[in-house]
Amino acid sequence: MQSPVNRCSTHIGVTMKKDDLQRTIDNLREKINYNNHRYYVLDDPEISDAEYDNLMRQLEGLERDWPERITSDSPTQRVGAPPLGEFKTVRHSLPMLSLSNAMDEEEVKEFDQRIKKLLGTTDNIEYVVEPKVDGVAVEIVYEHGELTVGSTRGDGNIGEGITQNLKTIRSIPLRIISSGRSVPELLEVRGEVYLGTRDFQELNRRRKEEGEPLFANPRNAAAGSLRQLDSVITAKRPLSIFCHGVGNMGGASFDTHWEVLSAFGQWGLKVIPNLAICNNIEDIIGYYREMTERRDGLGYEIDGIVLKVNSLRLQSTLGAVSRSPRWAVAYKFEPKQGTTRVTDIVVQVGRTGALTPVAILEPVRLGGVEVSRATLHNQDEIDKKDIRVGDTVVVQRAGDVIPEVVKVIETKRTGEEKRFAMPETCPVCGAKVFKPEGEAVHRCLGLSCPAKLKEAVKHFASKRAMDIDGLGDKLVAQLTDKGLVKDVADLYTLSKEDLVSLERMADKSAQNLLGSIEKSKKTTMERFLYALGIRHVGEHISKILAGSFKNMRDLMDTNEDELIGIHEIGPEVADSMLRFFKENDNLRVIKRLEEAGVTYPETEAGERKGNNLAGMTFVFTGALSSFTRDEAKRRVSELGGKPTSSVSRKTTYVVMGKDPGSKVERARALAVRVMTEDEFRELIGAVAV
Ligand code: IVH
Repeated sequence: MQSPVNRCSTHIGVTMKKDDLQRTIDNLREKINYNNHRYYVLDDPEISDAEYDNLMRQLEGLERDWPERITSDSPTQRVGAPPLGEFKTVRHSLPMLSLSNAMDEEEVKEFDQRIKKLLGTTDNIEYVVEPKVDGVAVEIVYEHGELTVGSTRGDGNIGEGITQNLKTIRSIPLRIISSGRSVPELLEVRGEVYLGTRDFQELNRRRKEEGEPLFANPRNAAAGSLRQLDSVITAKRPLSIFCHGVGNMGGASFDTHWEVLSAFGQWGLKVIPNLAICNNIEDIIGYYREMTERRDGLGYEIDGIVLKVNSLRLQSTLGAVSRSPRWAVAYKFEPKQGTTRVTDIVVQVGRTGALTPVAILEPVRLGGVEVSRATLHNQDEIDKKDIRVGDTVVVQRAGDVIPEVVKVIETKRTGEEKRFAMPETCPVCGAKVFKPEGEAVHRCLGLSCPAKLKEAVKHFASKRAMDIDGLGDKLVAQLTDKGLVKDVADLYTLSKEDLVSLERMADKSAQNLLGSIEKSKKTTMERFLYALGIRHVGEHISKILAGSFKNMRDLMDTNEDELIGIHEIGPEVADSMLRFFKENDNLRVIKRLEEAGVTYPETEAGERKGNNLAGMTFVFTGALSSFTRDEAKRRVSELGGKPTSSVSRKTTYVVMGKDPGSKVERARALAVRVMTEDEFRELIGAVAV
């Protein structure tokens, strides 16, 4: 029988439990927010991605079980919300002004003179100088520390409400950090949403693959991403923010702009890096020059610098005229676009054998750099833009990217312009040029093409390939330049005399190198295959192929059907393999390598070539739902694979169940493929027949 005391304690138990739950949730949110800030704002993570994902998963689990505990500032709420029909309009409580421009040093000096005159002083003015980020201007409103509204600048008075989209940006805190400095009741933060140059290129690469229109530059990509009615799409774009100003700030007062930005930092907001205080024009010009030089290496686009009077009191004395403050000015960089003439189109052969057409230009200054060549990417691009030798074109430099031709100015055509066509043979080695079906790039097929040779030798000798210790880049360059190595098989015919004739190569080091070359002869089929540097055949694919064929002979005798019957080998890899083995020169090099004594143990794939798991090792982590761990291991063994318990470079697959452990992280670090339980089921289903 239960006593009232017992019932009471049960009751207390339940409340205690609820408090515990809330504490756990709060704790998780705090940890996630903290680590989010370290990663996205400070760029200085303290925990691994896997540990972060794990915290996120725990919180998601609890919020799934207790949906009433979800709050709008929970870190789980960044993934995007249901799509909107249209954006609401938002009126900025203080107008978002724009900046007037200074085009050269003279105009910067005039700006400074004007300010002194307006303030009736001859004393130097203190300025904060900042990079001018080329992104999209936004305002984010925090009420009592919580992000409530986010909007675009719009016409300066009224913008579009893009709160859901802004909430997906990890460097925008959903709640202001209150430790250290008290948080004002109302805080209107202004800043620039941008997309980093690398992320921009990656986004465009993917869009191209999917046949979607490309964005012209990172700013357009950021603007397009913010203008999505479906915030789930925005969430997939790695946008970020730099904060550079305030609107209203109820309940806080500061003396200077610098103090405001420092407070931003303490509140967890991401402030533009590389700010400085300058007291005179010389320092400002020095800062401008420095930023011009550093511009391409920042990882995001800036198009100038901004000068702001530091004192907020002086700012308000100066006020604004026609939508621009009198206390600030943008000092723009030279434009990165210009027009010039294409005098020739030449072809370059890259290290992978890709042939790239390059426009030779009449020199033109773009963003402070003289440019005389621009990549034309490939024949399709030339055709699409209809670029001809003799054309007048618009060229641009974007970020640290190679200059490119944007478009032809057709009105400047004289009729003398000449169309360009890719050569049929490699301009460097004369081997056949090939354009794989569905690809835009032409490639040279010769294994010993000098243009590819250095890179091919470096790759062949690299640690994960034949592992020839001591054969560094400089040596490779000397060996190929002197003609001692014309293809990778020549490495095995080098004599001590050959080596000591090279720069900085003493007797002893020559002996050591010969030793490493000799040692490399005993290898594995997987390394040998990888070392050949066949397009699309990286370490992982080499491992699979070595697991499916007993030796190189069998592999060279294979056909397309057999290859694509192997799990993970698609038509692209099959095509590349078959083409490689069709070139006589490549067969000759392989033969010479074998004659020189390169050997490897034949793999166990002999009996069951193709459809089996022979040669593959599997590691399981986390709970599987359709098998027990032992059953899964047994299935692997039955199909000729090897279940093991720890992840190493030799592991073929890590199979990930629910709540996986650190093995997944290790697998990623070692570039070992991680597959889900479904993929594993599909794999053994496909091979069990
Ligand atoms: S201050 C009243 N600082 O450039 C001052 N703007 O027209 C207004 N921008 O729309 C802006 N970097 O979005 C400021 N460090 C920076 C900036 C910056 C980029 C944008 C801003 C504005 C435009 C200038």
